[in-house]
Amino acid sequence: MNEKPNHSTQQDSSVTVIGLGPMGQAMTRTLLAAGHRVTVWNRTAGRADGVVADGATLAATPGEAVEASDLVILSLTDYQAMYDILDTDSATASLAGRTLVNLSSDTPDRTRKAATWAASHDAAFLTGGVMVPAPMVGTEAACIYYSGPDEVMENYRAVLAPIGTPKYLGEDPGLAQMMYQAQLTVFLTTLSALMHATAMLGTAGMKAREALPELLSFTDSIGAILSAGEETPGAALDAGEHPGDLSTVIMMGATSDHIVETSTSLGLDLALPLAVQAHYRRAIENGHGSDNWTRIIDGIRAPR
Ligand SMILES: NC(=O)c1ccc[n+]([C@@H]2O[C@H](COP(=O)([O-])OP(=O)(O)OC[C@H]3O[C@@H](n4cnc5c(N)ncnc54)[C@H](OP(=O)(O)O)[C@@H]3O)[C@@H](O)[C@H]2O)c1
Repeated sequence: MNEKPNHSTQQDSSVTVIGLGPMGQAMTRTLLAAGHRVTVWNRTAGRADGVVADGATLAATPGEAVEASDLVILSLTDYQAMYDILDTDSATASLAGRTLVNLSSDTPDRTRKAATWAASHDAAFLTGGVMVPAPMVGTEAACIYYSGPDEVMENYRAVLAPIGTPKYLGEDPGLAQMMYQAQLTVFLTTLSALMHATAMLGTAGMKAREALPELLSFTDSIGAILSAGEETPGAALDAGEHPGDLSTVIMMGATSDHIVETSTSLGLDLALPLAVQAHYRRAIENGHGSDNWTRIIDGIRAPR
């Protein structure tokens, strides 16, 4: 029998976690440590052994997992996995009145469609993007972007907070994954850049254990570099201003040429240096060589 919960009034000390990869396991342990009763379900049941030993309860079916709690957290590879698990007659029958919090990664459009799908089953829906790796879940450094109905966020903020500090972005369910994709754009390109630079220094005999700390010390200072001389980084961009007083497109573009030349002579992969060079070349071709380097955003916004 399905008990229909009233999710709009109460936090429940019972939480369900569906998906027990490294993330789901870390979330389950954090919720257990915070004193919640946690019910779990995972496609590969054996992956639940560790968290069950720690006090979680393994549900036999997705429907049973959903019925165990008002709040159902999903931590899956993507949103299709949620449909594979919950878009079945037996599971959807349990969804009415529950709150689904999907902390899986996917595109903003898919998260918006998922919110509509959840609403069609009378379930509330929050999307989230977890900004730390599994070992950091539950630590003070953990933060999670959320979007969806404000009242749902507020209703479950206290339950969700131990997993990672909630940063609520707004009602549009796509916002959390938009921010996640934006942050991961920076993260993944930085990781590739760090590996390119490490490979470059390696050709001169420098070990990665020496190169990486040196490279990271500069990476850490990028925020200060971008803020130098500007009280609010980004304000000039918002105003459509690119004053070329300091770091012009031509100067930065010349550096990007040098990186391409150096990488070519060392026999390194050119994909990343060529992509960066292309941003500057396009701005120069469009007559913006003496603008600030931020001018490259025009070509990114409207590639031609
Ligand atoms: N790990 C990180 O450092 C990190 C950091 C930030 C965000 N995230 C995000 O957090 C989410 C989970 O990450 P994770 O590292 O825990 O991932 P994972 O190890 O790949 O675990 C994925 C989970 O999804 C399940 N799954 C995948 N496809 C399924 C399907 N078609 N039907 C049913 N279950 C399915 C897996 O079940 P089985 O066990 O049966 O395979 C497993 O429980 C991802 O969206 C990831 O992008 C991860």
